[in-house]
Amino acid sequence: MLGAPSLETPVSKPNKNYLNASYSIFSWLFTTDHKRIAWLYLLTISLFAAIGGAAAMLLRWELLTPEADLMFADIFNRLFTGHGTTMVYLFLIPAMLGVLGNFLIPLMIGARNMAFPRLNLITWYIFVVGAMSTILVAANGGVDTGWTFYTPYSTTFTVTDVSTTILLTVISMLAMILLAINIVFTIHRQRVKGLTWSRLPILVWAYYVTSIVMIVGAPFGFIATVLQALERAAQVGIVDPTYGGNPLLYEQLFWLFAHSAVYIMILPAIGIVSEIIAAFTKKRLFGHKGIVYAMFALAVLMLFSWGSHLFASDQSVFANLMFSTASFLTAVPLAVILLSWAASLKHGENIISAPMLFALVVILSLLKSIISGLVLSSPVTGSYLSGTQYGTAHFHFLVVGVATASFLAAVHFWWPKATGRMYSQKWAKITALTVLVGVFMAFAPGCLLGLAGMRARINAYPVEFQFLNQVALMGALILGLGFTLPVLYLLGSLFVGEKVGPNPWRAKGLEWQTLSPPHERNFHGRAIIVEEAYAYPPQTS
Ligand code: HEM
Repeated sequence: MLGAPSLETPVSKPNKNYLNASYSIFSWLFTTDHKRIAWLYLLTISLFAAIGGAAAMLLRWELLTPEADLMFADIFNRLFTGHGTTMVYLFLIPAMLGVLGNFLIPLMIGARNMAFPRLNLITWYIFVVGAMSTILVAANGGVDTGWTFYTPYSTTFTVTDVSTTILLTVISMLAMILLAINIVFTIHRQRVKGLTWSRLPILVWAYYVTSIVMIVGAPFGFIATVLQALERAAQVGIVDPTYGGNPLLYEQLFWLFAHSAVYIMILPAIGIVSEIIAAFTKKRLFGHKGIVYAMFALAVLMLFSWGSHLFASDQSVFANLMFSTASFLTAVPLAVILLSWAASLKHGENIISAPMLFALVVILSLLKSIISGLVLSSPVTGSYLSGTQYGTAHFHFLVVGVATASFLAAVHFWWPKATGRMYSQKWAKITALTVLVGVFMAFAPGCLLGLAGMRARINAYPVEFQFLNQVALMGALILGLGFTLPVLYLLGSLFVGEKVGPNPWRAKGLEWQTLSPPHERNFHGRAIIVEEAYAYPPQTS
């Protein structure tokens, strides 16, 4: 069975590696090893994913019946606000940058560590302080404004503690900016000799673009938050019409950041799937360079399409035209990426492995998102569907079907490298198919409900919408199972999993030239063969 691991170098006694270098709690809490910091992030974001996931299940449960019978509207509002902010700021963005970016980038460029190892650790602590406090505020009642914190409701009318919540999310986002800066400096400064820019793997390019988007986009979120907190504290009349301010200023700044946040979650997914397809088709990707250019094009178009979230906010015709055109154009680089993947799969060896099946979830969800995104890119249908379940469903295909599934694909692909152990292929493949069914069953009904006019953010609705909401709940439960199973068999593999050598997938990449798990100093005492890196044979037509 080709997908099965191959014991290239039988491992008798455990080699000294970053996991067994020291077992003291202090060696973890004060580590500057990027690989250990990635595990610290993994533990932290797993907690928040569980909290955000539990909130999602409660929301779905409430939406099972047309009546508001499980909770009052106020609780429902606090729950979806808590779910949204937790999943975006405390789970998915730190999962992509903090877990995967941290663990993989130095290994993939032949480096011993991040450019600023101590800053890397401090960044995790900043994130934890911001994140834990956010959860404490949520436990103390949370806020009921929605994750968008629109004014004037969040500045004048809500009685909930908006100021603390938004300032705490800023702290955890500040940590992500510092991490993004660290990643950019690492790619510029720490590359092994001979690993030129033209030789960089697609995933490293994806993180390069993602980090720049983070550094450019996040300050707009900071400004929006500071203006909001200032308005709440001193009623200066900037973003609240009650005091002569303009709420559109806040919305424009918020979406300048939030729109980039979506790309921060999906750009790494493009890199992850590209690496997995190359590794299992055993061929250099079709249009390798085209995918890199497409990611840069996406980042540029993102900067001109944030206003597609504001078609219903009385923007000028010219503004709608500009934002709509840029939004429609994002489908072009996405299509280039999908076509390159399809051509590579068509011409390459086809190894059905667990990482490949998770990659399939990403590919199908991205295809679905391109189509549903086109409908939202027109000011006509976009303003009609704004605030309906259609927008929420489209968003979830991106953050769950594309980003979260790609995170799982990455964890399954690089787990043998990170732990030196292989997990049950059978259960992993079952899980990937469970996630595929779960994503489409949980979120496709939302597209139909939105087209039929069901609003988002309501916990009571006309009875004719009940059946599709019941299907969505079933899907959410299947998805919940799909996210729980990996926790069991991956943890199990640490104790009973088959021990693997440096390169169980026979993939090309500098990370596979290290031991599994790698030495504390990565390539310690091992020659780095740069020519070998990513030297997949070219595609033959
Ligand atoms: C297990 C998967 C998930 C399920 C079942 C789920 C379910 C839901 C539901 C039912 C809502 C409320 C929709 C409404 O307004 O009626 C919601 C809102 C939302 N979800 Fe999720 N979600 C999931 C994962 C995620 C992830 C991974 C993210 C982001 C990274 C996310 C971000 C959001 C956001 C931002 C909102 C909007 C909250 C607001 O309106 O303020 N969700 N989700």
